[in-house]
Amino acid sequence: MKTPRILLIVSGGIAAYKALELVRLLRREDIAVRAVMTESARQFVTPLSLGVLTGDQVYGNMFDLKEESEIGHIQLSRQADLIVICPATANIMAKMAAGIADDLATTILLATDAPVLAVPAMNVRMWHHPATQRNLAQLRADGITIMEPDSGGMACGEWGKGRLPEPEVVAAEIRNLLSAPSPFVPSEVEGHSRALHGKHVLVTAGPTHEPIDPVRYIANRSSGKQGFAIARAAADAGARVTLVSGPVALPTPRGVTRVDVETAREMLAAVEAALPADVAFMVAAVADYRTQDEAAQKIKKSGDGPAPLTLIENPDILATLGKHPKRPGLLIGFAAETEKLADHAQAKLARKGPDWIVANDVSGDVMGGDANSVHIVTAQGIDTWERLPKGAVANRLIEKVIHVLAVD
Ligand code: CTP
Repeated sequence: MKTPRILLIVSGGIAAYKALELVRLLRREDIAVRAVMTESARQFVTPLSLGVLTGDQVYGNMFDLKEESEIGHIQLSRQADLIVICPATANIMAKMAAGIADDLATTILLATDAPVLAVPAMNVRMWHHPATQRNLAQLRADGITIMEPDSGGMACGEWGKGRLPEPEVVAAEIRNLLSAPSPFVPSEVEGHSRALHGKHVLVTAGPTHEPIDPVRYIANRSSGKQGFAIARAAADAGARVTLVSGPVALPTPRGVTRVDVETAREMLAAVEAALPADVAFMVAAVADYRTQDEAAQKIKKSGDGPAPLTLIENPDILATLGKHPKRPGLLIGFAAETEKLADHAQAKLARKGPDWIVANDVSGDVMGGDANSVHIVTAQGIDTWERLPKGAVANRLIEKVIHVLAVD
């Protein structure tokens, strides 16, 4: 397999320092990185630091004859399998949306036909400004992949959306786009990378959609990111993985068998069909209720007060597996809580019969976001992990599974 090549464009934002960690992660996966810095990026990190990590010259000046004679800007744009702009400032994205090419970075972006990933980072107000949102829509329409920024405290002291996702999350997205041959294996599971060889891991992910009539349904805000990250981490560790997913907009991780479903009942049927499994992660946010009768025709407004919608309970997939004759050897449930997290998680452990409950505090921006703060609740007690990217949570969960299976 040939080494994948990234052209990394670093534009000028406070998050530019995270590009250094990103380069380190990519190099560890044998991805070749060549870097271009904008003039303002050089105010935040030095070309020297970036050059040491890429092991190559850092480019920046289109009118430097020496640089151009060694490798011209057209060549730079042609040699990459993927161009990554990290961080992508509001300014560089505005220029791209308008087709402006007034420095080396923007000229490359206009000249390339390689896929482009932009990883925005900026102040929350800049992110929400209509001009930025307009530019993002234009860039998406132009075929550029844009990562969602994280929410949280900002360097400027404000709070909100606009933070650069963790480098590990960006690296995972890059690998996804490259479909790189070597999986990203974090240090914690190094040496264990094929430890789940011969095991079947079953994962549910995403929301379910419960139809009301031919055009409406009941749903929730689950993005599927955490479940997909677990499926990927399990596959990276050598497992055979079945991922039963509700409707989500995510690519299937490499090496994973995906079964798409819509409703809770379809999810249960797909899960039972996939048994036996050595390990099952029930990550899906299954709708607890569905309508008693799905209307055959679109329900019309009657104008006489509230419309009746009779809801009945859906099967509980986790609880069904908890007492199933083919119960997975290690059964792991998830719990989304907004209050009294430990109490509710412990009650779910007792009621549904899994071995662990991974409890998420969803009072913030977890649903749809890229990071998660989790508590692992088992009969032995509670283990609390610091807030981590969803990919890192997945890797640590798989590491814990490897450990438990090795002990048993
Ligand atoms: N779950 C399931 N089937 C359902 C509902 C939930 O398999 N019909 C699973 C989820 O995949 C998750 C766990 O149960 O692993 C907990 O889900 P959660 O929605 O937090 O729990 P509920 O039982 O719905 O409890 P509550 O809504 O009261 O918090």
